[in-house]
Amino acid sequence: MPGMGHSLRAAALLAFVVLSILVSLLISSVQQFGAGIYHFSNATVAGDEEEFASLRGALIYQLNQRRKEIIPLLLLDREETWESFYQRDQTQDSPLDYSLWNEITHGSRKAHMDEMDCQSLVDMQAVEVLGSGYTKLVVKVNLAGGQPVALKLVNEQGIDMGKCVEDFKDPRGCRELVSYKLKKEIVLLQRLQHPNVIKLKGHCAGDAGGEGGKVTVILEQGNPLQMIQLLQSPWEDRFRVCLDLVRLLHFLSQSPLGSVALLDFQPRQFVTVSGELKLTDLDDASAEETSCQTHADCTLQFPHRNFTLPCSAQGVCEGLNEKRNIYNAYRYFFTYLLPHQAPPGFTHLVDHIMNSTGELKADINHTLEAFEHILLLYKSGLHLDNLPPSIIRDYTVMRGMGTSGDTEYRCWPSYSQQGCLLSVHSAREAAFICNSHSQCNSFTLTGQKTWTGRLLASFRSSFSHLVPDGTSEVYVKKTKAPETSTV
Ligand SMILES: *[C@@H]1O[C@H](CO)[C@@H](O)[C@H](O)[C@H]1NC(C)=O
Ligand SMILES: *[C@@H]1O[C@H](CO)[C@@H](O)[C@H](O)[C@H]1NC(C)=O
Ligand SMILES: *[C@@H]1O[C@H](CO)[C@@H](O)[C@H](O)[C@H]1NC(C)=O
Ligand SMILES: *[C@@H]1O[C@H](CO)[C@@H](O)[C@H](O)[C@H]1NC(C)=O
Repeated sequence: MPGMGHSLRAAALLAFVVLSILVSLLISSVQQFGAGIYHFSNATVAGDEEEFASLRGALIYQLNQRRKEIIPLLLLDREETWESFYQRDQTQDSPLDYSLWNEITHGSRKAHMDEMDCQSLVDMQAVEVLGSGYTKLVVKVNLAGGQPVALKLVNEQGIDMGKCVEDFKDPRGCRELVSYKLKKEIVLLQRLQHPNVIKLKGHCAGDAGGEGGKVTVILEQGNPLQMIQLLQSPWEDRFRVCLDLVRLLHFLSQSPLGSVALLDFQPRQFVTVSGELKLTDLDDASAEETSCQTHADCTLQFPHRNFTLPCSAQGVCEGLNEKRNIYNAYRYFFTYLLPHQAPPGFTHLVDHIMNSTGELKADINHTLEAFEHILLLYKSGLHLDNLPPSIIRDYTVMRGMGTSGDTEYRCWPSYSQQGCLLSVHSAREAAFICNSHSQCNSFTLTGQKTWTGRLLASFRSSFSHLVPDGTSEVYVKKTKAPETSTV
């Protein structure tokens, strides 16, 4: 569709304009912030004026530090350096446009970005709390229209909030300070859009309910990644999680922000949406490069392994962020999910991936190539070329039929708890599997497909009736075919 590219470009341009405005507003408000905080602080602190002034000064300092963390994430041009950015900032002396700043921090941007806003949250129903941490609370909700979303809010009972109030005695200022983590996440989610990053649906910020500085991030809803459950899933599903992760890391290695490292790399930072892996926590994403003088400055330390990377002529550790991500993917995901029960045709390819990622021998491009190669083989069935074609001649096929009154047996790892339901590339692979199960005398290609497009086949010992079923095919072993009758 030619119109598609056009509207994508228009959307990109719009995002660019909004980000430009955000940058200049943030810079101006960093400079003018001191004036604003006075208004709400004088009410809460009575007593020693001097102590009060110093507390306030310290909080303002913290707030400004947080703002400064966000500004580089809004840099519009990858080529732009910190120096040139700040030089430009100093020469620019535009007055602060409060109406626009308010529109962004307190109000709606729906008109510009087609996003959800505070209005979308009216009459929502909370379903469950998905998690609560030092900083944030994540809640599953259904919006008034029934749409499920996840909300991230400041955790009022969290450690960050508690410590800040203890230090600065200013709940409102603290809420604003803690909210910066959410604001940073909003900016990161806008800049790092990818199928394997959770989708930002909008946000609500403002003085609703008299609680200033409050920010709510509205996200697509996912299911927390359950490693235990995943360990018991078919290899195809475990491979999918690893492939999605590698696709994500490939994107992060050359993102609009540069090469991004995930500093807190844990399965709990991820969710799945319809089986697709998505990074949901961007708190600890960092695009900072490590500067160095010698190779020894470029050491990656892990509990059981240390690696030393090259220090480039420009004085930065080459590929440090990328390699950190790869090794974390290896130790938290691949070791658990990939080798176990890999299809026989892939074991050497999987072993190769395990070794090259576990030893950090491959960069993310080569790792992605290796994964995509496996996917291609898996989809095309090329890895099954050594199965004898004659194998299928042992079976009688009945098309447009299903079975009832099945005597099932269980196999592992099955897509169904009761029987033996596995994915196959073709009837030939199913016949090969049936021959290798002593209890198997017939199988059905159900017409359902897995995410790779492979067919779901159900294997059984026997059945009592054939029933018409337009989408499926029944294969019965010729030698040991049980008595059957058509209904
Ligand atoms: C806080 O200080 C401002 C300016 O001095 C004053 O107008 C306002 O009434 C004060 N607020 C309270 C609650 O004392
Ligand atoms: C990694 O390096 C640290 C610091 O030099 C050292 O203490 C640790 O023993 C090393 N670990 C391994 C597994 O070599
Ligand atoms: C990679 O292969 C080498 C040589 O076979 C072996 O010594 C090493 O332990 C392997 N490393 C990993 C992480 O599997
Ligand atoms: C990795 O692939 C990307 C394109 O997908 C390319 O721009 C980049 O230069 C490659 N990096 C290396 C080290 O080959």
